[in-house]
Amino acid sequence: MKKIIVLGGGGFIGGHLAKRLKNEGNFVRICDIKNHEYFSHDEICDEFIKGDLTDPVLVAQVIDEGVDEVYQLAADMGGAGYIFTGENDANVMHNSAMINLNVAKESVVKKVKKVFYSSSACMYPEYNQLDPSNPNCEESSAYPANPDSEYGWEKLFSERLFLAFNRNYKLDVRVARFHNIFGPQGTWKDGKEKAPAAMCRKVAESEPGSKIEVWGDGQQTRSFLYVDECVEAVLRLMESDFLGPVNIGSEEMVTINQLAEMAIAISGKDITINNIEGQAFFDKYGFKCPTGVRGRNSDNRLYKEKIGWEVSEPLRDGMVKTFTWINQMVLENSYKI
Ligand code: NAD
Ligand code: GDD
Repeated sequence: MKKIIVLGGGGFIGGHLAKRLKNEGNFVRICDIKNHEYFSHDEICDEFIKGDLTDPVLVAQVIDEGVDEVYQLAADMGGAGYIFTGENDANVMHNSAMINLNVAKESVVKKVKKVFYSSSACMYPEYNQLDPSNPNCEESSAYPANPDSEYGWEKLFSERLFLAFNRNYKLDVRVARFHNIFGPQGTWKDGKEKAPAAMCRKVAESEPGSKIEVWGDGQQTRSFLYVDECVEAVLRLMESDFLGPVNIGSEEMVTINQLAEMAIAISGKDITINNIEGQAFFDKYGFKCPTGVRGRNSDNRLYKEKIGWEVSEPLRDGMVKTFTWINQMVLENSYKI
């Protein structure tokens, strides 16, 4: 039994990760600024500390002596409608950087055995993601750096921070760059949701014969990884000797209109797509609709080479599970803006 701390365990990936670690018999402590909305605390941890990890005093209490592993997933984050509008830049950078600075230092002070840090594909330079059919997200393509969002710049800074603590203080770290993770028990409404959840929700709440809005011309590309495979990949990386940074994502690239069409087909409803183009546009819910990079896909060669394992679940399988859960949420909440 290991003593494990999951920071950001009140969120989507952290909640799933903590649940798995607890089920495997470990002692799991979560710290998050909010409760988990969809899991009970008993399901995912032995101890839940509610508090703000930008506070170094709290971080010193949360990370105590004798900790085997810290998983650092706490961040101010959201989908394109949150991180690409420009309106949340200062908070995103300040909150997330403060958390990471506190966690790196306190992990050294308390001699934590191993720390996982969740970076993002958003740290890759925009100039390699202009062609939707052939984006380059190979790990070595990170420099010269030019992420298209402040969220991406903060991730780049913080992965360097953890690697610097590794070099100078021998902190044993693992750094992964997540590519758009999705699944049940994740954010599905109110502006921070990412495209898979947004498509499922829009389809779930629409009447047959109607249209759903999809931001942009719908030809921008992404790949999406189901959360259980993300958790598996994180745990295998932690068990390995490879520090990273390494991509954790899917290589099944689709256009956003294909993603929307998949959600529509799963629902069985006769629904069509209305593409809304341009940064200045707002959708019918009042959200700004930025599109971010033109194309992005995970490149899993390094992960396969170093860890010897690969993700394999087809996007459609994950979308069926996600649609089923979001459809249920829409029904239970009578959700309609
Ligand atoms: P999430 O928003 O569901 O979880 C993040 C959690 O951090 C939230 O529960 C939030 O309350 C908590 N948090 C934020 N500020 C805090 C603070 N000051 N003190 C304490 N807790 C705080 O996001 P997620 O999708 O689970 O992402 C987890 C991590 O993975 C994040 O670091 C995110 O940037 C990274 N990531 C996620 C994706 C993705 O597609 N989901 C992609 C790339 C990177
Ligand atoms: N969120 C959202 N909602 N996106 C939509 C919608 C909608 O209703 N309609 C179309 N899109 C388009 C966006 O404009 C964007 O071009 C694409 O779908 C993907 O959007 P998101 O899933 O919101 O984000 P992302 O892929 O650009 O970035 C996400 O992944 C990163 C890692 O790969 C974010 O979650 C980042 O925080 C994350 O780090």
